[in-house]
Amino acid sequence: MRLTWKSTLVLAAVIGLIAFFGALVAQKAWAQAKGPADFDFDGKGSGKVVFSHEKHAAKSPKCTDCHTKVFKMAKGQRTALKMADMNTGQACGTCHDGKTAFSVKDQANCTKCHKKS
Ligand code: HEC
Ligand code: HEC
Ligand code: HEC
Repeated sequence: MRLTWKSTLVLAAVIGLIAFFGALVAQKAWAQAKGPADFDFDGKGSGKVVFSHEKHAAKSPKCTDCHTKVFKMAKGQRTALKMADMNTGQACGTCHDGKTAFSVKDQANCTKCHKKS
């Protein structure tokens, strides 16, 4: 095939498109690997609690550490969490027990999760 201006342009456009969609797919895979964006639980008057997938991914890299044994994975669905359950090793307390991660029971740790604005 002889490269004319026209075919060169078409070729460049095709390469551009492939690169663009390739990057899009790679980005999606990356977002999946680090989990969804931060979200918060309102904290019921004790200060909202931000949950960061990104920060947890660094410490607890397997999605299956939490999903779906401890938490469901449905978009926009927040489990009703209670300190009483966490204090007995459920929900966040599965790990935040003073061994795997800082304890939910220690008064010094309340503000690590609860942020009053
Ligand atoms: C340390 C625990 C933990 C780990 C590890 C974790 N998640 Fe989650 N994830 C949560 C919690 C908590 C929720 C909120 C669900 C709830 O309230 O029941 C959630 C919710 C989600 C949701 C729904 C998000 C939304 O916008 O509503 C998706 C999708 C998700 N997780 C994907 C992942 C993927 C993918 C991984 C692995 C890269 C992962 N999670 C690892 C704790 C975790
Ligand atoms: C690992 C993070 C974490 C730590 C540490 C933590 N909490 Fe919570 N707390 C939560 C989450 C998540 C909720 C649920 C919020 C919601 O559903 O809106 C909650 C809810 C609450 C509530 C609402 C009512 C209830 O009983 O569930 C109170 C009160 C509370 N926390 C007090 C405390 C106190 C006091 C401490 C320190 C001794 C503490 N929390 C430590 C994450 C934490
Ligand atoms: C699978 C285990 C696991 C579960 C479940 C878990 N965490 Fe964690 N979390 C960790 C570990 C490990 C760390 C880092 C521990 C440390 O520094 O003590 C951490 C750190 C954090 C931090 C500090 C992050 C930072 O660096 O700023 C917050 C806030 C937090 N978790 C909130 C939560 C809340 C809220 C929940 C429940 C919705 C939860 N975690 C459930 C393992 C877990």
